[in-house]
Amino acid sequence: MQAEQNWLPRCDPLSLYSRIVGTGGYLPENIVTNSDLEKTVNTSDTWIRERTGIEQRHIAADGENTVDLAENAARKAMQAAGVLAADIDLIIVATTTADQVFPSTACLLQSRLDIHGCPAFDVQAVCTGFVYALAVADKFIKTDTSKCALVIGAETFSRIIDWSDRNTCVLFGDGAGAVVVKADSSPGILSTHLHADGDYANLLHVPSGVSSNYAAVQQGRAFVEMSGSDVFKMAVKTLGRIVDETLQANGLEYSDIDWLVPHQANTRILAATAKKLKMPMSKVINTVAKHGNTSAASIPLALDLAIRSNQIKAGDTLLLEGFGGGFTWGSALVNY
Ligand code: COA
Repeated sequence: MQAEQNWLPRCDPLSLYSRIVGTGGYLPENIVTNSDLEKTVNTSDTWIRERTGIEQRHIAADGENTVDLAENAARKAMQAAGVLAADIDLIIVATTTADQVFPSTACLLQSRLDIHGCPAFDVQAVCTGFVYALAVADKFIKTDTSKCALVIGAETFSRIIDWSDRNTCVLFGDGAGAVVVKADSSPGILSTHLHADGDYANLLHVPSGVSSNYAAVQQGRAFVEMSGSDVFKMAVKTLGRIVDETLQANGLEYSDIDWLVPHQANTRILAATAKKLKMPMSKVINTVAKHGNTSAASIPLALDLAIRSNQIKAGDTLLLEGFGGGFTWGSALVNY
């Protein structure tokens, strides 16, 4: 009998769930308004507001890097969760804009936080990155591989934007959001759903990298290229589908969702998803106006803002959902 038990997986039946126990966010001080952009590209405040909902975006200062934003957000999340560096046993950073080719931003952050020995790695799924990272952390916790994970979405997206291209430069901003996810005896993260389809790579991409056209990277010409209206249509269709997939998997109805916490690309995309959910916009966390699209940082930033402003309260059911380059898309259903 004793010998048989030794073959069972090591797991604590009281903590097979994961729960978000603290959040943090950080935005660079420097704000660029639509009026500022009117002076540099052929655009207008009215066009940007009407087509996207964006009024301003935060842009990292020279020398302020992704790890700096990540560190600020991570420290706030750890403080909110009441955990110390010694408690963290997993670090995942979702980013498209790593500071260096290597080490990963997660390793740079680990050193900043004086954490040693635990796994630390980056996840690259562009605007869906945070949902991917959260899903990975959830799996680590549910398999009893980790007890207390730091999950961050951090971007200096402004560095891969061509500031003379009005099709893209008005849309994006910089920032970081973080959560602490802990093992718990009751369900916090109820389910996660991840998808990708690389056939759509060319609709939204930076077509240069380390092994392909590195000269463009070296010369600072590696910029986001996007077929805006194609991305828009796919985003609306796909986000609607993932809502249904998530609710079906949990046996829930649209009305069971208290808050939609979507990737913040465009208020019109948020509105279309809310319409599908038959949810009023007052139940959709919307930071588009003040943050713009901060890629992997947008969902945790929105989550943090809503929690700190007492919109989201303990016990609420949240649907986090993202869509981005790849294409990648995914969701997380969360009992907060
Ligand atoms: N200011 C003024 N005019 C602009 C402009 C800007 N910043 N950007 C584009 N335009 C122009 C276009 O050149 C086009 O002009 P034309 O008709 O003379 O050719 C016109 O506005 C309409 O362009 P279109 O792309 O059809 O507009 P749209 O209503 O689709 O809005 C986006 C454009 C980019 C705002 C919208 O497509 C979008 O949000 N797409 C999704 C982007 C996204 O979410 N990306 C990230 C996903 S993670």
